[in-house]
Amino acid sequence: MIDNLMEKIVSLCKRRGFVFPSSEIYGGLQGFYDFGPLGVEMKNNLKRLWWDWMTKEHSNIVGIDGAIITNPKVWEASGHVKNFVDPLVECKKCHHRFKADDIDGDKCPDCNGHLTEPKIFNILVPTQLGVIEGEKMNTYLRGEACQTIYLNYKNVLNTSRLKIPFGVCQIGKAFRNEVTPGNFLFRQREFEQCDLQWFCHPNEMEKWFEYWKSERMKWFKSIFTHPENLSFYKHEKLAHYAKKAFDVEYAVSPVGKEMEGIHWRGDWDLSRHSEFSGQDLSYTDLEAGEKFIPNIVETSGGVDRMFLFLLLDAYTEEEDRIILKLDPRLTPYKAAVFPLLANKPKLVERAKEIYDNLQKYFSVAWDDRGNIGKRYYSQDEIGTPFCITVDFDSLEDNTVTVRDRDTAKQERIKISDLSDRIKSVL
Ligand code: GAP
Repeated sequence: MIDNLMEKIVSLCKRRGFVFPSSEIYGGLQGFYDFGPLGVEMKNNLKRLWWDWMTKEHSNIVGIDGAIITNPKVWEASGHVKNFVDPLVECKKCHHRFKADDIDGDKCPDCNGHLTEPKIFNILVPTQLGVIEGEKMNTYLRGEACQTIYLNYKNVLNTSRLKIPFGVCQIGKAFRNEVTPGNFLFRQREFEQCDLQWFCHPNEMEKWFEYWKSERMKWFKSIFTHPENLSFYKHEKLAHYAKKAFDVEYAVSPVGKEMEGIHWRGDWDLSRHSEFSGQDLSYTDLEAGEKFIPNIVETSGGVDRMFLFLLLDAYTEEEDRIILKLDPRLTPYKAAVFPLLANKPKLVERAKEIYDNLQKYFSVAWDDRGNIGKRYYSQDEIGTPFCITVDFDSLEDNTVTVRDRDTAKQERIKISDLSDRIKSVL
């Protein structure tokens, strides 16, 4: 493991415009971050990969985009008002606070002081709707994105031709009053989840649980630089809704490891929403002449944690250069275009033409500062797979030098072949 890897990633994120502390000019706000120009490109690429894999590489999966604020009864039915709690302990000596679940023994991990008895805190984020005092409605920002999928399960069924088994997926924000936010993007108070809720017959739960566990691991392995760093963790202590749960972990993380939960939710959610709303949420199988509450397998991932672990996994130091060896499908830029010399108008004009053409199809960087070596290093650090240099020969023979991020090898390529070369790694 590289020394101080986490600090290096936080610094790279700030320096190169991936992630900034939120409201920084006012001293920031603990547990909140903003994604900068490069970060938003990478995060969008990650979400697009996930979405396409879910909806295009699997049949019977559709998406929704639900509201962040719902009727407050949703959170009573879901069990969150009663059960979404974190027991917290405080050190009597240094006053640092910890989640009781993270502590082994009864001493403070920072100063060995005595800890208080655990106190229970509900971590839903409350909010109020309405403008007239005394008439305001108390509700919550959603504590997990998946609830809006259960609320729309009947709407999706009624407006599509889907039959069980089928899935509904969603990417969206969730909010938690985490008592110990920290470790950069790992534990935030506002974060993004990418969820699949798979609705199936109760007798088929075992089969689908194993199927999704294996599918999700395959997907993660296909996007990480070092797939051997991924593993499963089996939960012994289960959430209020779960009968069985595994986490996909980034096993070598210097902070927490959990990236995604694969949960056996059974009929908990639809039964509770049926009970609290008074609506019949059962499913009728006309062919089998059977009526039942569908059971649910959930895969619930944290987009921000994936983002952080992908960066940790891709960060490489080779002599004096830093390389982000990210899968090219995830990198903010797919290529960078340089005129060899910034003060030769013919070179700049030709390079600009190439940049403009590629930019129509890919996200491309432009750099004409400093020497070529520095430009390479600057692109390596943000993961750009190809650097394209336009030189005097380019004006004669319509070829350019393409330099590969990982091997640093250079090859001469026809300008007309550039698009295909980039596409070949996406
Ligand atoms: N619907 C199920 C659910 O929300 P969870 O295990 O609480 O399950 C799913 O959350 C994923 O959301 C986690 O595996 C993690 O990646 C991400 N996540 C949870 N809390 C987070 C936080 N405070 N900051 C960033 N990501 C978080």
